[in-house]
Amino acid sequence: MNMSVGDTKRLGSEAAKRRAWETKIRGSEAAKRRVWNAEYNKGEWDYLDADTAKPDENRDPIYRYLNKYCVDTSVLDLGCGAGTTALLMTDAYREYVGVDISTVAVEKARARLAQNPQRAGKVTFFASDILSFVPGRKFSTILFRESLPYFPVKQIVDLMRRYSDYLAADGVFIIRIYDKRAYREIVETLEKQLDVVEKYEPEGTLNIMAVYRPLAGATPKGSAGREQTGNAC
Ligand SMILES: C[S@@+](CC[C@H](N)C(=O)[O-])C[C@H]1O[C@@H](n2cnc3c(N)ncnc32)[C@H](O)[C@@H]1O
Repeated sequence: MNMSVGDTKRLGSEAAKRRAWETKIRGSEAAKRRVWNAEYNKGEWDYLDADTAKPDENRDPIYRYLNKYCVDTSVLDLGCGAGTTALLMTDAYREYVGVDISTVAVEKARARLAQNPQRAGKVTFFASDILSFVPGRKFSTILFRESLPYFPVKQIVDLMRRYSDYLAADGVFIIRIYDKRAYREIVETLEKQLDVVEKYEPEGTLNIMAVYRPLAGATPKGSAGREQTGNAC
């Protein structure tokens, strides 16, 4: 079979994309950070931060849940990107901690928050892998907004177990997944491991967002009292 230069380039870039995806899921913390930083530097995730003028709930129904569950409470946002959620949620939360592996995203998040002094005082960002981050105290809401697909299912089970230790007594996980068909195994795993409090699957999309609690009787054990860790950029 004869391949054109265009075919060769396309195949090369598909292979590069597959390698980047593999690294994001199975790479070391440093390798994952390199890939995410390169993508943030190229502007590949800028679209997530565009259009911040739109009223939040019209932009994404996830804000309905955030606005409902986060009034006067603390929020831990795992895989927070460049700070859009902290900026767009109704300003009723008491405290917000964002964690992201990408130092580029975290720098951008800090710069954007500095423009918003009212929120900046109650928001902190850490550059860390979710796998190794230690929150050090409990939160009312733990959010995974489009960040769970970057973990193998087995690790997600362990993550949910570990982060359940950092949920306050009546705390919830809020999880958004863009494509419930592609990530069906993740959705099924979450539903087996956690209690679904409420769930929304907008018609005409493959999105799914849901509020979960740890299963009754799944008593948290472990290190909820240890120090908060993560790197400053
Ligand atoms: C699709 S983006 C979503 C960003 C943001 N949550 C939003 O919805 O606008 C996924 C984010 O997860 C972060 N991420 C992926 N794997 C991570 C990991 N192992 N630890 C921390 N952050 C991670 C990426 O750097 C990226 O910012």
